Amino acid sequence: MSIRFDPAAKTLTLLTRSTCYQMQISEFGYLLHLYYGQRAVENFRYLCQTADVGFSPNPYESKLDRRWSLDTLPQEYSSTNTADFRLSSLNLCAANGAWGADLRYVRHAVTPGAYAVTGMPCAFDKGGESETLAVVLRDASAGVEVELLYGVFPEQDVITRAARIRNTADKPLRLFKAASACLDLPFGRWELLHFHGRHAMERILERTPVATEIQTVSSRRGASSHQQNPFVILCREGANEDSGDCVAVMPVYSGSHRTDVERDQMGSVRVVTGIHDEQFSWQLNPGESFDTPQVLLSFSACGLTPLSQTLHRFLRGNICRSRWTNRRRPVLLNNWEATYFDFTADKLLRIAREARNLGVELFVLDDGWFGRRSDDNRALGDWFVNEDKLPGGLETLIAGIKELGLRFGLWVEPEMVSEDSDLYRAHPDWALTVPGRDPAMSRNQLVLDLARPEVVDWLYDTLSGLLRRCDISYIKWDMNRHLTDVYSHALPPERQGEAPHRYVLGLYSLLERLTAAFPEVLFEGCAGGGGRFDAGMLAYFPQIWCSDDTDPIERLSIQKGTSYGYPVSAVGSHVSASPNHQTGRGTPLGTRAVVAMAGSFGYELDPTRLSEEERREIPGQIQRFSRYYDLIHGGDYYRLEPDCGPESEAWSFVSPEKDEALLCLVVKHPEANPAPLHLRLKGLDPAARYRITQTFFGAAVPAALQADDSGDALPVLSGAALLYGGYTLPRLFGDYPSALIHLEKI
Ligand code: GLA
Repeated sequence: MSIRFDPAAKTLTLLTRSTCYQMQISEFGYLLHLYYGQRAVENFRYLCQTADVGFSPNPYESKLDRRWSLDTLPQEYSSTNTADFRLSSLNLCAANGAWGADLRYVRHAVTPGAYAVTGMPCAFDKGGESETLAVVLRDASAGVEVELLYGVFPEQDVITRAARIRNTADKPLRLFKAASACLDLPFGRWELLHFHGRHAMERILERTPVATEIQTVSSRRGASSHQQNPFVILCREGANEDSGDCVAVMPVYSGSHRTDVERDQMGSVRVVTGIHDEQFSWQLNPGESFDTPQVLLSFSACGLTPLSQTLHRFLRGNICRSRWTNRRRPVLLNNWEATYFDFTADKLLRIAREARNLGVELFVLDDGWFGRRSDDNRALGDWFVNEDKLPGGLETLIAGIKELGLRFGLWVEPEMVSEDSDLYRAHPDWALTVPGRDPAMSRNQLVLDLARPEVVDWLYDTLSGLLRRCDISYIKWDMNRHLTDVYSHALPPERQGEAPHRYVLGLYSLLERLTAAFPEVLFEGCAGGGGRFDAGMLAYFPQIWCSDDTDPIERLSIQKGTSYGYPVSAVGSHVSASPNHQTGRGTPLGTRAVVAMAGSFGYELDPTRLSEEERREIPGQIQRFSRYYDLIHGGDYYRLEPDCGPESEAWSFVSPEKDEALLCLVVKHPEANPAPLHLRLKGLDPAARYRITQTFFGAAVPAALQADDSGDALPVLSGAALLYGGYTLPRLFGDYPSALIHLEKI
């Protein structure tokens, strides 16, 4: 039993394989948070010290005893306008105009299996692997009940949380903030890791001490955003990849989000996470309830690597629903960087033929195939083929592609509309615009109002019609601007604060219907690259285009940042042309493939323009990726830290059985006369012996070391030697050389 209630101590304890989460129904009926950390079965109430703290108010019932305060004790779910002045989780206004809720325990229930949140993706149970705790809190005067939902996945070491807010009064109430969870970490010096960026440079790690001012990681953009990913880690000062306490907080949400971290007057740290409360309000009529998005929590006492691995496994096993999650996905070639808008059917077929000759399995036609889409200023919304470019329609092109033995994939950007489109001319009110105000344009396009069910229905009919008519195996679902001027022409004035979240609900319902109706289609998410790379999207898209920046050296930081929370199998990554289109940097083809292999792997270049030498190299890359596919997507991922040598980035994949591993390394800054490039491997079986094969790319290394994949000149080493003594690579010179080192247990 992973959820235990001790009636005497009034503690509720959630146990996973290596963690423990505990709360207590305290005096006065408040739900206190007692502990989240390494597994220990104990009553942790002794950790809560009560003291008379000036200006920290006490419950009315405590009378002359001034020691008990909501303001100093750790809480499970805080509210505004109560004695807790720290970050609130809930902000509401009752019918009588009173703000906040004084939430007291009413009842709890434990049920087998995972709970669902209405209209949003959340963690699923594959059969008897989880339990749910629901704790109901109530403020009778406000006429509100809050049901705190806890999902416990013991083997996965993950606890999920969400809140369901119910109006029990006979008049409407309005929500202004409804966080998914509040997590208090009462002791210790903590640091915040978050993942910020911009278009074409997403999820860059930043680590800062948790200070007394409030630190906020958020997006107000209507999407989870390139700028601030909805994922943070709190770790104790000094924690590293292999040691130290770390807590992951990952909302399963794709819209505007907000995570605040506050260190209070007593040094206790509070994290509150959920939908962004700016431009949010929700009218709850009597009897109605509002579900918050779910948030995933995980704790590791052994540093960041196990925390990331837990999240990787959980997202793959309990969030991603696609049949393609664990299935070998086709190696694709996307024509975007090959042609941009400048293509004809003949040109596409020439590219596809050459791609097929190299070993590519699926051809993706990107932007520009529909309406009068000659550039990115027009035609979004007109999802019918441009016969000038593609005579005979998509069907004819697809027949040609299939004749080559390739499967066909297509780009769409359904959430958008161009002013210059038949759709906008027919339904101007379907776009998000504020009446009487010119909307902000971004890529010269507007956003469709997915808060309107008829828009969602129209998109479903249009896209499902396309998928039924044409033999399409893959869809790239793009979203190339953020939401401004959010105003739904279908909602009354007092409900406009619901539009941003209703947009996300509309999007989820559309994806829900489409992915259920076309389960064999491989959907890849995209939002100008990784502008909506989050756990919510991963429920529908097993892979997401990681960034519009395809420069392999830039991708090292982007993919590394991504790896803290998200599995390699979710990372859309392609080999593109050199010099790179975004940075102008030249890199070896082999190094581009080493980096793209830490993801879905594909190509984004014009194969008809390759040199003979490059054409000879690519089939080997595809074969190598296919050979290591299970290891890369199904293995455990380690970020490695070379301890000397030229500046480089290294990572490895280790099979669950520890009988195979692949070490990947890219030198970012070759040096003259460098120190030896040395690192210690991770995750291997110390008692096993491994045969080593090494392959170098773009490197000027002695001929004897330029082994191919069959190389057998290298020693066999024990796992213990590689783990404790480490491994030294030969000196690698040249522009951005890289290495693949394969270890196989003998
Ligand atoms: C976005 C995507 C690109 C490409 C273009 C097409 O920027 O991230 O990969 O599909 O749109 O317009």
